Amino acid sequence: MHDAKCPVIAVANQKGGVGKTTTAINLAQALALQDLKVLLVDLDPQGNATQGVGVRLETIQGSIADLIRDRSFPASNAIYQGDGLGLIAATPALSRVEREMTGQTNSELRVMQRLQPLRSDYSVIVLDTPPTFGPLMNSALNAATHLIVPVDSGYFALMGIRELAAEVEEIKNGTNPGLSVLGYLLTLVDPTNLSHQTADTLLASFGDLVFETKVRRSVKLKEAPALGKTIFHHAPDSAGARDYMGLTDEVMQRLQIGAYATTYTPPRLSVVTGAANE
Ligand SMILES: Nc1ncnc2c1ncn2[C@@H]1O[C@H](COP(=O)(O)OP(=O)(O)OP(=O)(O)O)[C@@H](O)[C@H]1O
Ligand SMILES: [Mg+2]
Repeated sequence: MHDAKCPVIAVANQKGGVGKTTTAINLAQALALQDLKVLLVDLDPQGNATQGVGVRLETIQGSIADLIRDRSFPASNAIYQGDGLGLIAATPALSRVEREMTGQTNSELRVMQRLQPLRSDYSVIVLDTPPTFGPLMNSALNAATHLIVPVDSGYFALMGIRELAAEVEEIKNGTNPGLSVLGYLLTLVDPTNLSHQTADTLLASFGDLVFETKVRRSVKLKEAPALGKTIFHHAPDSAGARDYMGLTDEVMQRLQIGAYATTYTPPRLSVVTGAANE
């Protein structure tokens, strides 16, 4: 089904607030900084990834909702361009589209079908997903070749992960046999005992699938989305930027794409994401 080489990475965990959007945005931007052509797709009606890369709701002409609901809506009318990064935005209209998808045959394959032709235009596609099992999460799991699961280290780590693993198994046994977990990522890491325990539990359960890189809790990462900036725009020399570059290095190795520049040079970026078709 997925004949093009371009990997499609869904960042997913049905638990809210674990760092999915932060990871999707900053991984996508970091991959773009490694000279890969990257498309970020916001599949969450909250639109946090969209706003987090600086696209304002009132400027959006075309979004993922249009692509799902209208087969003839041109994908190019829904792609916004940032610093080496394309974005397909989400708006609150996506909630209604999700409700309409319930009960429609194969509606959960539409995102995969719409992204398929774009896979020859990009080196990697990153999907941000909502914090609920539902048609949109299923759409992401059907469209993805790989999954990154952020795990909040300040929380009992395996809560919900087994449910997610069961959901992934269902999809693999059904419509998307090629789906695989690229890795588990510890997020919101701080020096507490709970954080260390969570890391140990995750390692004991998933071994090498746990990324060596851990994303530390940091003020700069917290501030960036409200400013509509990735961490590489907001604080390119911060711990958060370095953590997401470390993740990107591992992701590129695991996917065997591109050659990671071994020294990280904090970039100078200015552009927030521009309007579609500009
Ligand atoms: N490493 C970090 N350090 C500090 N704050 C962080 C970090 N990662 C994420 N945050 C903040 O924590 C909150 C939740 O993060 P984020 O939105 O990425 O999670 P999410 O899993 O996408 O949430 P949702 O389930 O609502 O979509 C946000 O306010 C974000 O800015
Ligand atoms: Mg989110």
